[in-house]
Amino acid sequence: MKNLVTLLCMISALVVSALTYKCYSGFSSNSTTCKESEVECLGNRCMTASQYVDRKGNVFKSILKSCANETFCGTNGSVAIKNAMYRFYVKCCTGHLCNTDGYELISEDPTPNGVKCPSAYFIGTFEKCNSTKEINCTGSMNRCFQYRGQARYPGDTWKNVSAKGCTNYIACKYNFKNIMAVPERPGIEIIC
Ligand SMILES: *[C@@H]1O[C@H](CO)[C@@H](O)[C@H](O)[C@H]1NC(C)=O
Ligand SMILES: *[C@@H]1O[C@H](CO)[C@@H](O)[C@H](O)[C@H]1NC(C)=O
Ligand SMILES: *[C@@H]1O[C@H](CO)[C@@H](O)[C@H](O)[C@H]1NC(C)=O
Ligand SMILES: *[C@@H]1O[C@H](CO)[C@@H](O)[C@H](O)[C@H]1NC(C)=O
Ligand SMILES: *[C@@H]1O[C@H](CO)[C@@H](O)[C@H](O)[C@H]1NC(C)=O
Ligand SMILES: *[C@@H]1O[C@H](CO)[C@@H](O)[C@H](O)[C@H]1NC(C)=O
Repeated sequence: MKNLVTLLCMISALVVSALTYKCYSGFSSNSTTCKESEVECLGNRCMTASQYVDRKGNVFKSILKSCANETFCGTNGSVAIKNAMYRFYVKCCTGHLCNTDGYELISEDPTPNGVKCPSAYFIGTFEKCNSTKEINCTGSMNRCFQYRGQARYPGDTWKNVSAKGCTNYIACKYNFKNIMAVPERPGIEIIC
């Protein structure tokens, strides 16, 4: 009887370990590599999200590894403002600890797509910016956005921000919430 219980325990332990998928997990807001640990996931999919922020030549590259969020799998997010640029790419994979890939960003098509947007970036204000400057949107960025809210760059404090520029569907739909290096507080306004 004791042996049978032991055997059943061993079998159930094997079944559980076979059904529990793990992914590498980690985050770095200002580096293309991160310290990794292992986390259990509900599904069998993992992801590596890479992000690039360039604000007047001040570049932050961030990486996030975790269980996959299917909403973002395979997506390329793009935001362009005069003197600033934000990009992300999320790569997903299937299998136990499959997210071994490193930082990877897919560059945006630099060809103007015909859409023009007013562009501005002000720090320290929530005021609507009355921009007269226009930029030519490129690649997948086929819509204009206006954002008023708060953002925080790595190593910095929360700042009020008012910005306008070009964006693409995925970056707009999720209100830039995928932003890792520049976490955003709920905007008081986001219009695309
Ligand atoms: C995936 O991301 C979306 C959008 O941010 C969020 O609403 C959803 O809760 C996330 N799902 C998981 C499983 O984290
Ligand atoms: C992201 O870019 C890659 C490479 O160009 C492309 O294969 C993929 O379809 C893009 N994803 C989306 C959702 O557009
Ligand atoms: C933008 O224009 C509006 C209306 O013309 C004005 O109320 C507002 O103060 C202006 N904002 C800035 C930042 O100049
Ligand atoms: C945008 O494109 C037009 C041509 O369609 C060009 O004349 C203009 O200089 C461009 N603007 C900028 C800011 O690059
Ligand atoms: C981000 O990384 C760069 C390059 O390693 C470094 O020079 C910079 O000081 C870092 N910034 C912050 C805020 O940690
Ligand atoms: C952001 O703007 C609000 C409203 O104008 C103000 O109360 C707050 O002090 C500002 N915060 C910062 C960090 O400037």
